[in-house]
Amino acid sequence: MSPTVRITGLGKYLPERVMPNTELERMVDTSDEWIRSRTGIGARRIAAPGETAATLGVAAAREALAEAGVAAADLDLIIVGTSTPDHYAYPSTACLMQAELGAERSGAFDLSAACSGFVYGLVVGAQFVQTGAYRRVLVVGSEVNSRILDWRDRGTCVLFGDGAAAVVLEASDAPGGLVAFELGADGSRADSLIVPAGGSRRPASPETVEGRQHYIQMDGPEVYRFSTLVVPAVVERMCAQAGVEPSAIDLLIPHQANSRIIQSAARRLALQEGAVYMNLEHYGNTSAASVPIALYEALAEGRLQSGHLLALVGFGAGLTWAGALWRWH
Ligand code: ACO
Repeated sequence: MSPTVRITGLGKYLPERVMPNTELERMVDTSDEWIRSRTGIGARRIAAPGETAATLGVAAAREALAEAGVAAADLDLIIVGTSTPDHYAYPSTACLMQAELGAERSGAFDLSAACSGFVYGLVVGAQFVQTGAYRRVLVVGSEVNSRILDWRDRGTCVLFGDGAAAVVLEASDAPGGLVAFELGADGSRADSLIVPAGGSRRPASPETVEGRQHYIQMDGPEVYRFSTLVVPAVVERMCAQAGVEPSAIDLLIPHQANSRIIQSAARRLALQEGAVYMNLEHYGNTSAASVPIALYEALAEGRLQSGHLLALVGFGAGLTWAGALWRWH
C-alpha cells in the first residue's frame, strides 16, 4: 500500500516589530477605522533590517523540525513558497535555507505562486511522499512583503505584513492526510496584482526605480471579486472530489487577505459555526506565509483534532489558487 502523508511538525516565526494601523495613519492618508472596517487588519509585523525570507524561514523550519524530531540532515526536499526571495534571480531562498539548516542530502527549490505558494508547495510535497519517492519534505511559506510595498500607496501598504511558517511532511501508514486538492491559475489576469519591473521583461533601470515599478501594484476591487468567488468554488470542487459536503469541514483556513473575503466564503459554503479560522487582525496579509501561520495557531488553540477534516485555500497573484482537503492525523 502506498504511504499517506502526515504533518509531523509545525513552526512559525514572526518578526518582533509590530506596526499598528495608527502608525500607518502617520505615513499615508488612512485611518485605523478604515483599515479595520474594510479589511479586518489591526496590525502587522515588520522584519528587522537584517532579516530576509531565508532567515525568517530558517527560524520557522527549526521549530518544525524540532517538533517532528527530524534532523535537517534527514530531509529529502525543501520547498519554499515565497514572492519576496532573498535574491531575485538566484540563488533560491530554499538553497540558502538548505545550507543554513545543514540539510545536506536535500533537494531545494522555490515555488512562485504568490499567496498560493504554501498550499501549492504542500500539494507538491505531498505527491513525493505519497508515491514513496521521498520520506521527509519541508514546506515553507516565508515573506518579507515590507520590502516590496510602496509605502506611499495607501491602497496596498496597509494590507501586507512579514512572517514565515513551515511544516514537515512525513510518510505514514495511518489513514489520513491529503484527501483532495486543486491547483489553479488564470494568467490572463496577471496584471491585476503585479510587481511590474525587476524581471527580464522590464529590467531595473533608473526609470523603473523613479516610476516605483519595483513595488506591488494591485487592482483591489478586481482581486477582491476574484477572491470571493474562488475560495468557495475551490472548496466545493474539492468536496465533490472527496464525496463529502462542505458542511463536513471541521476547519477552513483560507489565505488571510481580508476578513470580508473570508466571511463571504464562509456564508456561501454554509459552514458550521466556528469552522473558519482568522488571525489576520494581528498579521495582515503575509502572502505565502499566511496559511501555515494560521494553521500553526489554529492547532495551538486546539481548533484541530485528530480525524478532523481541514480545508486549506490559498489565492493570489498570477492569478493563482490552490486548495488542499486534509484529514488531520
Ligand atoms: N485608507 C483610506 N482610504 C483608502 C485606502 C486606505 N488605506 N485604500 C483605498 N482607499 C480609498 C480608495 O482610494 C477609494 O476612494 P475613492 O472612492 O475616493 O476613489 C475608496 O477607499 C474605496 O476604494 P476601494 O478599492 O473600492 O475599496 P474597497 O472597499 O474595495 O477595499 C481593498 C479595498 C481592501 C484593497 C479591497 O479591494 C481588497 O481587499 N481587495 C483584495 C486585496 C487582496 O486581498 N489582495 C491580496 C490578494 S493575495 C496576493 O497574492 C497578494
